[in-house]
Amino acid sequence: MGLIQAILGICETQPLNNEVWQVKEKKALIDLEKASALKGNSAVYLKGKGLAKPILVIHTGDEYRAYTNRCKHMGRKIDLVPGENKLRCCSLGHSEYDLDGKILKGPAKESINKYKVRTKDGLLIIDL
Ligand code: FES
Repeated sequence: MGLIQAILGICETQPLNNEVWQVKEKKALIDLEKASALKGNSAVYLKGKGLAKPILVIHTGDEYRAYTNRCKHMGRKIDLVPGENKLRCCSLGHSEYDLDGKILKGPAKESINKYKVRTKDGLLIIDL
């Protein structure tokens, strides 16, 4: 990541196509067949549609995980670090979190919220 990107807090992670997810009854639902950006070691984020906070969704191995996409230092967005099984804030502080959302290092002092997720009938269901 470049210095300018870090200063501005710009992440690599892109938003998930709005047509393949929805919010319903306190759950975010992602159509996994259509969510091609969420395959392999990858990450996307969800924002809007009434969500109280943006959500980072990752796929590593066979597992999906979801977190509040706000660093606990100053609220910048977070990326998955490819191949390292950890998450990193996009700001200059670069706080790092493990895949359970626990803080590893950096200026952030708290862990990020990890949502309960499950798959059912081709959907990834995130309990909000
Ligand atoms: S906002 Fe994440 S380290 Fe500063």
